[in-house]
Amino acid sequence: MQHNTTNNYATRSNKALALAQLESNEIAKYLESSFQRTTEGAFSTKQEWNSFYSTKQNRFFKNRYNLRYFFPELLPAGIQPQDWHPPLEWKGERCMEPPSIEELCQHTIVLEIGCGVGNSIFPLIRANPNLFIFGIDFSEEAIRVLRNNIEYDCRRVYAFVADVTKDEESIYQYIPPHSVDYITLFWTLSAQFPQDMKYTVELAQKLLKPGTGKVLFRDYAFGDLAQIRQHPKNCIDRNLYRRGDGTLAYYFTESFLQSLFPSSHWQTLQLQTHTKTVTNRKEDKTMTRRWLQAKFLLVSTPNY
Ligand SMILES: C[S@@+](CC[C@H](N)C(=O)[O-])C[C@H]1O[C@@H](n2cnc3c(N)ncnc32)[C@H](O)[C@@H]1O
Repeated sequence: MQHNTTNNYATRSNKALALAQLESNEIAKYLESSFQRTTEGAFSTKQEWNSFYSTKQNRFFKNRYNLRYFFPELLPAGIQPQDWHPPLEWKGERCMEPPSIEELCQHTIVLEIGCGVGNSIFPLIRANPNLFIFGIDFSEEAIRVLRNNIEYDCRRVYAFVADVTKDEESIYQYIPPHSVDYITLFWTLSAQFPQDMKYTVELAQKLLKPGTGKVLFRDYAFGDLAQIRQHPKNCIDRNLYRRGDGTLAYYFTESFLQSLFPSSHWQTLQLQTHTKTVTNRKEDKTMTRRWLQAKFLLVSTPNY
């Protein structure tokens, strides 16, 4: 039995490697042929993420230093993305209470939605002393691990538990409407059902400063090797997969992402699929990874 599963995986994996080299329309044909909708509505995956972080703690995702290359607007003038910055050190007692928004008026305020254990937050606050980052995640376990990080201190970062699709009022306790300069969505929308993504974008509309506030987005793109490698039985909706551990993975097309940020309120500053070909010399295989990167400016706020 085990042997068959391994063989199947190897066959699928080899097929995926071949398919990943193809043009998007051919990948689309392949994915469409194996697509079968198996879920009717969205449900919470909070428990699954809690189990994920209970097991993995902070050992799964690596610190995302390359965000400094992709989003240079988060760096101060004169700092190069490749510059090295030491981990933050706090002498004496660490501060665990967040400052008020008024106290942060000299800072650039960033909100990382779905911050996990802080792999995007810490590389950014090391590189830019002027950033204050709020982190929100619905996994209590992720926030516990993040707060235990030795670099965590409320003079630079405040992380708290909330579900961004429904806990708007409790979020306002710490982050008032129209107070945030940047909202970062790094591999977070892909962890949500498409039906829930629009609530996350609506929250961004309420929290960002209209006219200057921006969403910075980087996530899985349609046709990524990881999508093609997914077992068809994991596919629960178009481009949406439920992994073995119960968490979700959505693979974005440019047009679908654009539809979440309508031109009535958002100006698209960037929307680009990035492709990277990785060669595994040992196995003599070439793999194509795809990510979608985007930047949206909030031009006006809707009346809710
Ligand atoms: C793939 S992880 C990305 C973590 C982090 N952004 C990074 O770059 O390392 C996705 C995160 O989104 C969180 N998440 C998913 N849906 C959420 C929701 N509705 N509200 C808050 N957090 C959510 C999960 O708990 C998980 O930590």
